Amino acid sequence: MNDLNALPANFTWGVATSAYQIEGAVSEDGRSPSIWDTFSRAPGAIDNGDHGDIACDHYHRWREDIALMKQLGVDAYRFSIAWPRVVPGGSGQVNEAGLGFYDRLVDGLLEAGITPFPTLYHWDLPQASQDRGGWPVRETAEHFAAYAAVVADRLGDRVRDWATLNEPLCSAWIGHLEGRMAPGLTDLTAAVNASYHLHLGHGLATQAIRAAVPGARVGIVNNLSPCEPATDSDADRTAAVRADGHTNRWWLDPIHGRGYPQDMLDLYGVDLPERPGDLETIAAPLDWLGLNYYFRNVVTDDPDGPLPHAKQVQTPGRRTAMDWEVCADGLEQLLLRLTDDYGARSIYVTENGSAYPDVVKPDGTVDDPDRARYLEEHLAACARAAGKGAPLAGYFAWSLLDNFEWAYGYDKRFGLIHVDYETQRRTIKGSGHRYADLIRSSARATRKAA
Ligand code: FCB
Repeated sequence: MNDLNALPANFTWGVATSAYQIEGAVSEDGRSPSIWDTFSRAPGAIDNGDHGDIACDHYHRWREDIALMKQLGVDAYRFSIAWPRVVPGGSGQVNEAGLGFYDRLVDGLLEAGITPFPTLYHWDLPQASQDRGGWPVRETAEHFAAYAAVVADRLGDRVRDWATLNEPLCSAWIGHLEGRMAPGLTDLTAAVNASYHLHLGHGLATQAIRAAVPGARVGIVNNLSPCEPATDSDADRTAAVRADGHTNRWWLDPIHGRGYPQDMLDLYGVDLPERPGDLETIAAPLDWLGLNYYFRNVVTDDPDGPLPHAKQVQTPGRRTAMDWEVCADGLEQLLLRLTDDYGARSIYVTENGSAYPDVVKPDGTVDDPDRARYLEEHLAACARAAGKGAPLAGYFAWSLLDNFEWAYGYDKRFGLIHVDYETQRRTIKGSGHRYADLIRSSARATRKAA
């Protein structure tokens, strides 16, 4: 595909997953329950009453999954490390068996020529930490950094790229304000405090990783959405500014040394639990920024609705099974914004992908042209942004495998590889083959250019 030519020669082609969504083996080898084990047992919390007890059984099938990655030809694998496997009590005692799993996984990846890109926190807080107050309390940030140090110490001789947090917006806003994710709270003060301590945890963990691993490259993964007014009215335009503050600026400004946006502090009306020096810790310079992109937000003023009083309107574009609009231009816009407004030096698209209701045909194949098209359109958006100067270093497709899609359970399939949950049989979908083709032809183009 010619329109991918603008991607840099050393572009990293990856796939992504997260621990709770694929591993299963929730009580094996000393793993303790996480807030997602608890939340998925809350009546009505998850579609079909699904949970991650078995998921893709990746804990036992990781060798097969690495072989599949090799078949796709990816350069890198973004996965997450389960804190409740490594430090089951949240703090204190380290669980050697849990750490050993990631040790073997990293070795297996390297043997296959695949670069490991671990994320230290993808939402699975040990329930023991939640019982002591969770992210709304400061000690959770400190315990997170201690856990990060343990992992960095163990894997740092082989792992160079580290992400601290995945999508702190979801942990704080969806988990503590909207209640649709673990721990399922609807409390603004708790949510604001959680957001602050997630950031503090990120900053402290960044220091801990750098202390343990000289030359480590540390980043954070945010999910962002361009926020646009549904009409030209002043009310809608102001609503879009609020939505942008809630979705983007609250998460980007503090880590870039700009503090928390004043308009949002005024809107939330919650005092931050700030101590001297925190803002500097939170703003530790980063080696790269991770962007997870799924959709844009087109909003209208909604004064009586929930924060940020901006209601999403239904846009006319194509939609995925998540009812998310397909809008690749939003990805280009965000990459350019991170470059122009935040001075990003290196950006990875750490997640991007789509859910569709796939079926395995009688001949055993899975045709998913909509997902293949989504992939191509978003990679083309990446190339356009790179062509305009965005320092784009790589792209990780979400996801390697169909998996436990949080509150939606197993119904929503995002994989490039289909998983039959009865048999755990994996089948590379048409989109997976397409991704492999794109990777192969980009390698050819690079070889030719060299
Ligand atoms: C993101 C999450 C990821 C996955 C995708 C679809 O918000 O980081 O775990 O669920 O959405």
